[in-house]
Amino acid sequence: MSLDDINEAVLRRRRGAKWNHYGADVLPAWVADMDFVVAEPIRAALHAAVDAADLGYPQAHRATGLPDLFVARAGARFGWEIDSRDVLILSDVVQGLYLALETFSAPGEGAVIQTPIYPPFLHAAAEVGRRAVCVPFVAGAARYEIDFDQIEAAIDDTTRLFMLCNPHNPTGRVLSREELERIGELACRHDLVIVSDEIHADLVLDDVPHVPIATVSPAIAARTVTLMSASKAFNIAGMCMAFAHFGSRTLKERFERVPAHVRGGTNTLSIAAVRAAWSESQPWLDEVLVQLRANRDRVAAFVAERWPRVGHLPPEATYLAWLDLRALALEPSPHEFLLREAQVALNDGRTFGPEGEGFVRLNFATSPALLEAILARLDGVLAGR
Ligand SMILES: Cc1ncc(COP(=O)(O)O)c(C=O)c1O
Repeated sequence: MSLDDINEAVLRRRRGAKWNHYGADVLPAWVADMDFVVAEPIRAALHAAVDAADLGYPQAHRATGLPDLFVARAGARFGWEIDSRDVLILSDVVQGLYLALETFSAPGEGAVIQTPIYPPFLHAAAEVGRRAVCVPFVAGAARYEIDFDQIEAAIDDTTRLFMLCNPHNPTGRVLSREELERIGELACRHDLVIVSDEIHADLVLDDVPHVPIATVSPAIAARTVTLMSASKAFNIAGMCMAFAHFGSRTLKERFERVPAHVRGGTNTLSIAAVRAAWSESQPWLDEVLVQLRANRDRVAAFVAERWPRVGHLPPEATYLAWLDLRALALEPSPHEFLLREAQVALNDGRTFGPEGEGFVRLNFATSPALLEAILARLDGVLAGR
């Protein structure tokens, strides 16, 4: 089955959020699922488990072999040499954000968050009664930049965490080693725990490396919890499994005070899916990356040519385009306007923090044909504005 083998009628029969939340007249380009059919080895592993009625209690986490697979992949892809005893399996990355906030800070204490940001970062801080210390990315000529002075100014003696998202959703930035060094140095100086959501690490589109912040120096590693999973790159978010790596035994022991039953983390099918993803599905991902690069470039060229007043800095990673429509003054908001007038569902920039006002996020992980349909619908109401 090829990546192009996507047809709208089949997608509309899926039961997931992306194709069900809005009506049949709407083209969805919102939640971060890809429209591509998942890799054949993953589908085969799931079929095999179901056909064998292999749906009993799963093996213990370490016995699944998945922490070892995680470690092998970290070494092979990122030159990150780690020990599987420092890895825990979680139910999902967002759960890891919540648990880390609760573990490494007290109510009322602060966590640095670089906004705009994947909305659960903000929900997590608010829902567990921590302070989101929001520091905006700044639009540069070709990419979003970090304002280190602003971060420094925002930190006070009740700030406990740096909640990093790298590659960053929604700007698509892949932070350089130098930027990570500066963040790490700042975390060391202010004694912050770094919680690094690196779920998009396998979705780098440009010729730049993904650098896990825990690889930058032993001192930085010792204060870092890294969250990763197979779910974004292999399009299996509904399987619900993620991995946390702890750069020191102390961090891990503190985290493990939350009982294993509360952390959850595995079920028989997710084990089969993640094993097949990481051990057999890389050729599929390589093909997906080629398509995502082409789609990213298509969106960038289209925006530049057709909508000159829309701001867009093409992402270095992820399959998400962050579009600045402020100059168009679309009412009541770009998201609602485009849903109503163009029947395209994008993510509302406002949910990514105050800097998202007037922005939308477009998910371009779909077939070239559907991407053209999405762009044409948007063009119908944006051209000439
Ligand atoms: C930065 C980021 N973190 C976490 C998630 C969600 O991860 P999970 O489904 O494992 O909670 C997403 C999903 O799009 C994401 O973009």
